[in-house]
Amino acid sequence: MTARGKEPEATLTVVGDVHRWWRPADATFLERSRPDLALFVGDLGDEDVPIVRAVASLPVPKAVILGNHDAWQSFGRKTATDKLRESLDVLGEDHVAYAVREVPRAGISLVGARPFSWGGQSLRSPELYDEIYGIHTMRQSAAAIVDAARNAQHRDLVILAHNGPLGLGDRTHDIFGKDFGKPGGDWGDRDLALAMQRIEGFGLRVRAVIAGHMHHRLVHPRGGRRTRFVRRGQTLFLNAAYVPRVRQDDNGDELSYFLRTRWQGGECTAVEEVWVDVHGDEREVHTPAFVDLGDDAPALDEGQETGELQD
Ligand SMILES: [Fe+2]
Ligand SMILES: [Fe+2]
Repeated sequence: MTARGKEPEATLTVVGDVHRWWRPADATFLERSRPDLALFVGDLGDEDVPIVRAVASLPVPKAVILGNHDAWQSFGRKTATDKLRESLDVLGEDHVAYAVREVPRAGISLVGARPFSWGGQSLRSPELYDEIYGIHTMRQSAAAIVDAARNAQHRDLVILAHNGPLGLGDRTHDIFGKDFGKPGGDWGDRDLALAMQRIEGFGLRVRAVIAGHMHHRLVHPRGGRRTRFVRRGQTLFLNAAYVPRVRQDDNGDELSYFLRTRWQGGECTAVEEVWVDVHGDEREVHTPAFVDLGDDAPALDEGQETGELQD
C-alpha cells in the first residue's frame, strides 16, 4: 500500500444553485451519505428565509456562500433587508464569505469568496457590501479573500464562490461566459481572479474553485449547454449550476442533482455528477469530462480598476 493509500479520503458534496428546488429527499441523501462537508454555492431562493433555514438546519457539516438572488431586494434598495439580515443570522459561521474553514480529513482549507456576486465588472451595490463587510471596491474584496487564505492551515485550498473568476473564456458557452443581454464576454469575477493570482504568488495551491451562478442552459444560443468542468494547471473549476436542479428521467421519476468530490491529502481524486431519487437514493452517477485550458492564467493588471469606477 502506498503512503497515499493510508491517508483518509474525504467527500465534499456540492449543491448548485437551488432556486427553491429543495426536496426532503435531498436532506435524506446528505444525512445518509454523511459528506465531510456539504457546499452550497448560493441562489437558494430570492431572499427566501424558509429555504435558508432548511439548509441551515441540515444535520451535516456545511458551508454556504449566498448568491445574488439571496440578496435580490437588498441590491434594489442598496441596503440589507430584514430578510437578508435574518438569512445571515440563521447561517452564522456556516456562511463562509471572506472566511476560512478547515477540512483536515481532505487536507484542504476552504476559502469563501465574495457573496451575492452578479458577475461582471461591477459590485452592483458597493453600499450593500460596505454595510455588511466594510468593502466597497473590487480591490478591497480581493484583499479580503486573500486575507482569508492567509489564515488557512493547509497549503491546498478550495475556494467556494457564487460566481467563478475572470479569465476562463469570453464565449457564451464558456464556464463563466455571458450568455444573456448582449451575449459574449467574460462574466467572471475580477476580485476572485486577482485574489487567486496573489494567493498562488505566495505558494498556496488553489486546487479547486467551486461555484455556480451561470446556469447550465444558455439563453444565447437558446438551448445551448455551458461548459461546466474546466482544468487550468493544478486548479479544477466546477460550475454546479444545473438549473433547475430537479428533472424527470425517462420513466417520469423525479431526480435531483448533486456534485460529489473526493479528496485525499489535499488533492481532488474524483468528481461525479450524482442524481438522487425521491427516496434519497443515488439513481445515476456520471463522471464529467474536463476541458483542459493548459497551464497559464492570464496575468491581470492589479492597477486596473475600471470596474470600481462604475461602482
Ligand atoms: Fe442562479
Ligand atoms: Fe446567481
